[in-house]
Amino acid sequence: MPLKQKTSGKLISFEGSEGSGKSTQIARLAAHFQKTKRDVISTREPGGTEIGEQIRNIIVHNSKGDEMCAETELLLFTAARAQLVREVIAPALLRGAIVLSDRFLDSSTVYQGIGRNLAADPVAQINRFAVGNVMPDLTIVIDVPEEVSLARLKTRASDLPDRMERENVDFYRKVREGYLVLAKGMPERFVVVDGTKTEDAIEKKIWTEVQARLT
Ligand code: TMP
Repeated sequence: MPLKQKTSGKLISFEGSEGSGKSTQIARLAAHFQKTKRDVISTREPGGTEIGEQIRNIIVHNSKGDEMCAETELLLFTAARAQLVREVIAPALLRGAIVLSDRFLDSSTVYQGIGRNLAADPVAQINRFAVGNVMPDLTIVIDVPEEVSLARLKTRASDLPDRMERENVDFYRKVREGYLVLAKGMPERFVVVDGTKTEDAIEKKIWTEVQARLT
């Protein structure tokens, strides 16, 4: 049985480097939908389910730290995604809800594929296996220069201080460029917003795009 059937439910994923302001904008977009009385839920990757949060814990707090290989990292992120899709996202879409996801499959394409240099084909296949036919209806990339990501990272409290956040500026440059290349190749699904603008300006741009593309 397909996970996703034709309903008014929509999946909107948010992507971008750490510190790009995704969570602030997800909360603001959720508030817009709440005002229109739409059923809206927010979730995050890795995590969003009990099993997913346990997987997040392995990625973040494993005692082997830097020894986790890129392949394991990919499989853990996509395992958490498979669970999130079946436990949370697909049922919500089926009842017609708007689902806002802080990261989705494009994070694996960019971080593990481009950032960690894993071959694109297996990353795409594993991603497809994890999500089934549940693809984002719209993906919003909040684009910030790599220096801004790193500077914001240093000032924020996070449970991911070790593996991902210790990467250097070159890694974040690759991540940023990876998102921009993906977005350029799929303009019907992606919107890139300038994350250096004010929070109010970004919110306005996102709401305008969402209304134009999804309603
Ligand atoms: P965040 O909670 O700040 O978004 O951090 C999640 C971290 O996990 C971030 O460094 C990106 C990374 N990540 C991947 O590398 N691949 C993935 O598939 C996902 C979902 C996240």
